[in-house]
Amino acid sequence: MKAIVLEAADKLLVLKDVEKPVLKPGEALVKIKAAALNRRDYWITIGKYAGIKYPTILGSDGAGIIAEAGSDVEKHLIGQEVIINPGHDWGIHPEYQSKEFKILGLPEDGTFAEYVKVGAQYLYPKPAYLSWEQAAALPLAGLTAYRALFTKGRATKGDRVLIVGVGGGTGTIALQFAVATGCQVFVTSGSGEKIERAIQLGAVAGVNYKLPDWSEQLQHLAGGFDVIIDSALGDGFAKLPDICNPGARIVIFGGTAGNIPELNGRKIFWKQLQIIGTTMGTNEEFKAMIDFVNQHQIVPVVDEVFPLADAEKAIRKMTHSSQFGKIVLIA
Ligand SMILES: NC(=O)c1ccc[n+]([C@@H]2O[C@H](COP(=O)([O-])OP(=O)(O)OC[C@H]3O[C@@H](n4cnc5c(N)ncnc54)[C@H](OP(=O)(O)O)[C@@H]3O)[C@@H](O)[C@H]2O)c1
Repeated sequence: MKAIVLEAADKLLVLKDVEKPVLKPGEALVKIKAAALNRRDYWITIGKYAGIKYPTILGSDGAGIIAEAGSDVEKHLIGQEVIINPGHDWGIHPEYQSKEFKILGLPEDGTFAEYVKVGAQYLYPKPAYLSWEQAAALPLAGLTAYRALFTKGRATKGDRVLIVGVGGGTGTIALQFAVATGCQVFVTSGSGEKIERAIQLGAVAGVNYKLPDWSEQLQHLAGGFDVIIDSALGDGFAKLPDICNPGARIVIFGGTAGNIPELNGRKIFWKQLQIIGTTMGTNEEFKAMIDFVNQHQIVPVVDEVFPLADAEKAIRKMTHSSQFGKIVLIA
């Protein structure tokens, strides 16, 4: 089969002929119709990710048709249109993942290929109203945003929610989930155009995080926030406690812009704030996320679609974060 293979650090991604995966009982072979990029794939290509091995077939997000079954038990699945939960072996504690937890696309070969093998328990019916590209855009960002916003952030109708750096894959879907819940959603972005796109998706307003007074402007617009979703961290993070309402939750799962700077501890304890880490989510949360998406007929934002062979070009687009939503590869 054809697959995009990362052969060494800083080597270009190339389309190669590789062996088709061999299935074990409990697994299914998915013929990929569309795959999507995550910043994780980008970090791996530049060598900034734990446990990188070469060669690797990248890709955590995928949607496709079940082509083969690992045993008679999974045979009835053949022909089904599915999306893949990329978070595997979460373990028994809903609060945190087990040591065995892994994400499809390293160490296991991922979705930037004609076929991928996946445990049958991680396959879910593709929402029927979504195109292959839209369905592929959903899994990793959708799962992460769902747990961040609802399980950890406890966002409910009427809450004031801030999405920091809305242009990313997780940012756009978090915005859509919060809007669908009836939250009052505000955003930051490095681009005025992306703020306009966010407003079209239902955000109340947004401010460019490059402005020196971005936090004051946000406070003026929104008053204060009950839930903040931040996957960027960096210097701007120090301002977040200032614009929180008492009892607010700041949920973090990435560090695109750096680390957590020095914070004013007094503001955190006096306002009874919580800074909460999260990562991906459980298989149950994945199912709940798909149910939520179907219920609200949410359509993930696809920024651009590239042929699989152009994966290198697609992933370089992430260097400057020029995308709004997800970058997708099609077979
Ligand atoms: N732990 C987990 O489970 C998990 C899951 C998913 C993602 N992540 C991490 O979360 C981060 C986001 O992932 P993604 O896939 O959504 O990435 P992405 O699509 O590449 O988006 C990154 C976004 O970060 C924003 N950004 C960049 N610099 C910023 C700054 N100084 N201040 C505020 N925002 C800034 C940009 O927003 P604008 O374009 O609007 O400027 C950009 O679009 C990555 O670091 C990723 O590794 C972690």
